Amino acid sequence: MSLRNVKILITCGWTLVLCAIGLLVYNLIYSNIIKQKEPKFWCGTTLGNSVSGHDKGRELFTANCASCHSPFKDATGPALVSAMANRNADWLCKHITNSKFISKDKRTKELLKEYNGTKCMKATQLSCQDVDSLIVYVNSYR
Ligand code: HEC
Repeated sequence: MSLRNVKILITCGWTLVLCAIGLLVYNLIYSNIIKQKEPKFWCGTTLGNSVSGHDKGRELFTANCASCHSPFKDATGPALVSAMANRNADWLCKHITNSKFISKDKRTKELLKEYNGTKCMKATQLSCQDVDSLIVYVNSYR
């Protein structure tokens, strides 16, 4: 075999190896993106089928929150994707459903200032499971 042929063989070999690595990395990243799109639960509550959790969440959102909130845009209230991001499911359940719970922490104070004192409306008829569905729905916009 001439030196030229050996060089061509080596180049082809490396091209194949690089392609294989490329495919592998692409697969890894792609499967991660798909995983992220699946709803995440923030606490141990199970809703059975996560798709029904998402649909339930959309229903509850439309009925109770959509008049003031969009999942991804600031409106009468802040965009829920960001407003919910650093709150855990427990806190969110209290904030949303418990009329006796009035949050006084720094973040809420900032929000109240930003929204000229308009307060988030309590939805006392909802359960913590309902709030979990809402979280699943809102997180699908993350
Ligand atoms: C009457 C309008 C209105 C409705 C209806 C409403 N909100 Fe709000 N929400 C606001 C406003 C204004 C704020 C910002 C001031 C505050 O935090 O109270 C807010 C803030 C929030 C925050 C951030 C609170 C914080 O302190 O971090 C969350 C989370 C939230 N709302 C969730 C919801 C959910 C879920 C629903 C439906 C069950 C809902 N809101 C219904 C107006 C509303």
